[in-house]
Formats: sequence, C-alpha cells, structure tokens
Amino acid sequence: MKPFVFVDRQIPPEALALLAEYCEVEVWDHQQGSIPKDLLREKLLKAVGLMTGGRWINEELLSQAPRLKAVSTISVGYNHFDLEAMKRRGVIGTHTPQVLDDTVADLTFALILSAARRVAELDRYVKEGHWKSGDGVKLFGKDVHHAKLGIVGMGRIGEAVARRAKFGFEMDVVYYNRTRKPEVETAMGVQYAPLNELLAVSDFVVLLTPLTPETTKLIGRQELALMKPDAVFINVSRGQTVDEEALIEALQNGTIGAAGLDVFEKEPLEQGHPFMNMSNVVTLPHIGSATTQTRNDMALLAARNMVEALTGETLPKHIVKELK
Ligand code: DGY
Repeated sequence: MKPFVFVDRQIPPEALALLAEYCEVEVWDHQQGSIPKDLLREKLLKAVGLMTGGRWINEELLSQAPRLKAVSTISVGYNHFDLEAMKRRGVIGTHTPQVLDDTVADLTFALILSAARRVAELDRYVKEGHWKSGDGVKLFGKDVHHAKLGIVGMGRIGEAVARRAKFGFEMDVVYYNRTRKPEVETAMGVQYAPLNELLAVSDFVVLLTPLTPETTKLIGRQELALMKPDAVFINVSRGQTVDEEALIEALQNGTIGAAGLDVFEKEPLEQGHPFMNMSNVVTLPHIGSATTQTRNDMALLAARNMVEALTGETLPKHIVKELK
C-alpha cells in the first residue's frame, strides 16, 4: 500500500505526478483559504507524510498525526519546524536549498536598487501626477555601483549576492558569517569583518541569515546605531532577525537612510503599520523565491524529498541538518 501524503497547498502538476507515483496523495486547494481545522485533523490522523509551506510543525500538530514520518517544506527556511518536538516524535523534516539561490539573490538586488534609487517611491510620484520639470535634486538617490556592501550570513544565497555585487556592480564586499569562508574570500575577493565593523563601514547591509535562536533580533537598536546615517538596510531573511520597532525608529529619526524589506515580524503586514507610510522603506510581500520557474523547482524538490523520506533506505539528502 502506498503511504498517504497530505499536501496543504496546490503544487505544480510535475511535483504532484512524482508524489503520486509513490504515494497516495490529497491536496488542499489553498486558494479557497486555509484548511478548516476539523478537515486538517482528519487528514493528519492518517498522514504518513505532510507537505507544506510555512505551517507550524509543533507539538500540537504532531500530537494529531500519530502516523507521521516526514514533513517536507517547500522552502529553504524551516524556522516553522519545532525541531525538538520533531526529534522527540522521530519525524524527519526536509527543505529545499540551492534551487532558489539565484532567484533570491536577484530579488535582493531589486531591493538594493529600489531603495537606493527610490524606484518604488518615484514610480508612485510619477503616477500620482507630481512630476514637474525642474524637480532635479528632489529625485536624487544613492549610487549602488562601487559602493560597499556588507553581507550578514554568507551561505549559498550570500555568495550569489556577492557574485552579483562584485562582478556586476563592482562593489566592495565585506561579509560576516558564523564560520569564516576563506575559499569564498579567495574566489570572489570579498573580505571577512566582525559584525560591528561590517555595520559601521557598509553603505548597504544585507541580512540573509536563517532564523535561529542565535539570530533572533540580531539587528537591534545598538547595531542600527553603528550604521552610517545614509546606509540602506535590506532584509530578505525573516522578519524576526530584526528588532522591527528599533528599525522603524532608526528609519524615522535618520539613524539610517532607507530600507528594503521582503520579510516582517508579522506577515501579511497590516494596514496602519508604520512602514505603510514611510517613503524610505520598500516593502515586498515575502517574494524572495517567487518566480514561476523557481517555485516549480522548489515544489519538485520538496516532492522528491518526500519520496526519499518515505521510500528510501537512507536519510533524504535534504533532511534539515538538526534532524540528521
Ligand atoms: C524560503 O524558501 O525560505 C523563502 O523565504 C521563500 O521565499
């Protein structure tokens, strides 16, 4: 008998076909809204595998899923996994690294350019009919090429951002990472700097760390105070890596110049949130990996991870490292 896998969102046909070859599959059409609790409970009762995006995999959910062996998330980030609870219950967790690196790096640059050259703000300016001849200096922004870029978190996405910065925009790149990466330094001509030094010297600071207990509120009031007054801060990691209240304050009182944000403490961002009215903040709805090609690739990899987890003889290749 094929193992039963519940998928809590629609996935592309290729990923579904792969899953269906090895598993009995049911899919919730998330465009109808989130799945009713009772229905989820019913599916969890018989699920051996669960494929999801950002659903919390915690004790409460696991206690409703007595047969569950594997959770495959269609994301590289897995901060929604309660790793201790999964360990206790012997549930494997997999994620989708690598396939999204270049797409997230592209989006990082979209935010850098948009915040520096005020693209989103000035698009609104034109469309709302404010553009007059003689506007001149009012429209000036900040150069990206040849500026100094500080990358906090030099994983594969960090490297893809560094490559674009060095070889596309001829930027001077410094990075901070838990472990130093001499091979990346040699290959790309980037320099390591302790976090505080990176913050003080960079024109652009890009935050790319995964969310863990150690990186929660990694950037707070003190760190923002170290940055240059015209620095641009970019966050493509998770909203919780930053003290959002401190960031709002820093952007309002000129401690830093601007921000480009794809992630927030609470998503979706609510109407009335201070960011909504700040012209020096570019806000995006968590679309780091959101291109058709990349999301298809991620779903296919997540399906492959699930099949490996349920039918393979060894642990799946993309099991999250804490559960190995
Ligand atoms: C991920 O995969 O973790 C990204 O945040 C999705 O955009």
